[in-house]
Amino acid sequence: MKLATRMDRLGTETAFVVLAKAKALEAQGQKIVHLEIGEPDFDTPRNIIDAAIKALNSSQTHYGPAPGIPALRKTIAEDCAKVRGIEVKPENVVVTPGAKPIMYFAITALAEEGDEVIYPNPGFPIYESVINFVGAKPVPIYLREELEFRFDINEFRKLVNEKTKLIIINSPQNPTGGILTLEDLQEIAKLAQKYNCWVLTDEVYKNIIYEGEHHSIASLPGMLERTIILDGFSKTFAMTGWRAGYGIMPQPLADQFSRLETNVNSCTATFVQWACKEALEGPMDEVLRMVAEFKRRRDVIVEGMNTIPGFTCLKPHGAFYVFPNIKGTGKTSQFLEEYLLKEAGVASLSGTSFGAFGQGYLRFSYANSVENIQIALENIRKAIAKL
Ligand SMILES: Cc1ncc(COP(=O)(O)O)c(C=O)c1O
Repeated sequence: MKLATRMDRLGTETAFVVLAKAKALEAQGQKIVHLEIGEPDFDTPRNIIDAAIKALNSSQTHYGPAPGIPALRKTIAEDCAKVRGIEVKPENVVVTPGAKPIMYFAITALAEEGDEVIYPNPGFPIYESVINFVGAKPVPIYLREELEFRFDINEFRKLVNEKTKLIIINSPQNPTGGILTLEDLQEIAKLAQKYNCWVLTDEVYKNIIYEGEHHSIASLPGMLERTIILDGFSKTFAMTGWRAGYGIMPQPLADQFSRLETNVNSCTATFVQWACKEALEGPMDEVLRMVAEFKRRRDVIVEGMNTIPGFTCLKPHGAFYVFPNIKGTGKTSQFLEEYLLKEAGVASLSGTSFGAFGQGYLRFSYANSVENIQIALENIRKAIAKL
């Protein structure tokens, strides 16, 4: 098959590849603990499901406006003022099927061939994939374990220049669980203004924070006009399969994202958007309960990881991943990913699935029960002892 050459530059998310391998082993009768996929194991809260059913029963089953139904855009704008302290209008909001399209739209709309785009490494693999796809130059910023998976600002300064079109940040972060401090954001804001760059701030884990506070770079002086906030419903409300997310940005750019949405999806499912409105306006008790449970699991998995010979694991401050350093085992990340799947029946991801700087690490998602986490830890310990 002869495909367009740009397809050679498109990457992927290996979480889905490992999931398929793990399922194949399960089909052969092997027991697997799934710690590879980044999705809450909880059900979507009842009030949100009921709102979707009500919408379906009220014929909210037709095409809607490309950037989202006015009622949801308004709710998202109000929520942004409430949680981030940033005043925006419904016209600044574009609703998409999942938050992922906002990444694609931002990179496609802003980065020309040859432009430079800075992105976190290790980081969510789709950033690098799409930067390459559009022919821009990927410029990774190293997230360092010794800085609790933040970057060194002096290294950052050296990467930004006149060719930098876009800076992508993600906090709390996938795959490390690290969070950027207000000082980090202030430094990035200064550089973005000096070099006239856009910032894409991926805030999908903003509600899943255990220590410290979430700060949005968009709230800093002079940043709203050059920032795209990316957020969604998947992680906070356990709604991964609903496919609902959004971007908040200056209106002229929102109009262009809306045009991209018309070209790609037409719109986000209308009844899903009514459910999203309920998610933001309804009680947050379930979200708080899920976050408290994630915190309990985090403490169990971090403590357990640190008792495995060759593993050392920082305590992440947000999201639902741990990113232990496995260099002490003397094995590569790719080897251990395969080995633990086969020998321990534990599905994890090689740190290199998140970029070259992930070598020497594994990612485990703790969106699984404490009981399963304990089984996984025990099985890993036994498998590592056999190395
Ligand atoms: C950092 C980050 N951003 C965005 C997304 C995409 O989320 P959604 O399901 O809303 O497309 C994910 C999903 O894993 C993620 O980890």
